[in-house]
Amino acid sequence: MKMSSQVLPDIAALNTAVLEEINRQIQESVAQRGKFSIALSGGHTPEQLYALWANRDHSATPWDHIHLFWSDERYVPSDGPLSNYRMTRESLISKVPIPEENVHRVRTELPTPEEAAADYEATLKSYFGSAAPQFDIQLLGLGEEGHTASLFPGSPALEEKKRWVMAVQAPANPPRRLTFTPMVLNQGRNTFFLVAGAGKREIIQKLRSEPEGKPSAYPARRLSPSGVVTWYLDRAAAG
Ligand code: 6PG
Repeated sequence: MKMSSQVLPDIAALNTAVLEEINRQIQESVAQRGKFSIALSGGHTPEQLYALWANRDHSATPWDHIHLFWSDERYVPSDGPLSNYRMTRESLISKVPIPEENVHRVRTELPTPEEAAADYEATLKSYFGSAAPQFDIQLLGLGEEGHTASLFPGSPALEEKKRWVMAVQAPANPPRRLTFTPMVLNQGRNTFFLVAGAGKREIIQKLRSEPEGKPSAYPARRLSPSGVVTWYLDRAAAG
């Protein structure tokens, strides 16, 4: 795993830097493989990124070849206030010329979160095939207690060795969620952690001072994606 971090002055600069890298990876992936896949996250930090992305000039963006997925989703109606899909639709999808069939959302209208998780795993398989998905980019956040996607400290999903998507109970609002497991998140070609605000300073310090060579108690540090990992921090989070 190649890991680096970039510290930007504020969240706007952070998202500008991330967007530049997304655009670079889109061009490279489409040139090399004919398509580009990105696993999106929820939360406040990426919402501003999606808005910035929506407002860019799209003339050079090959939207027909871009495929959107979600690394985690809340088990709530897809048009509800807490839905990650709803947030992304309003901030980005509704404003760009992406074909509807390239938007691979979690079907939270299914009767149980377990069924929605199995259904989303089938969605991944129909796009990626049977080998664990390798996203061109996975965007991840960091919670104040070290969670990422909806992998919270102590979650059994952290130990999962078979399933790609799991229904979990999170100590957060809303508690019922679906998340990619490390089976998927450890494959990413590029993993970008987006971390902004003074509220994240303490967890960043804890992650920095963890001893090497011992499994971390913090899900964000337990992941070891095979590709490039970049932490984008704003100055308030970096301390
Ligand atoms: C979610 C997320 C979650 C998020 C972090 C950071 O659906 O809640 O995907 O893992 O990325 O909680 O969120 P903020 O950007 O709001 O701090």
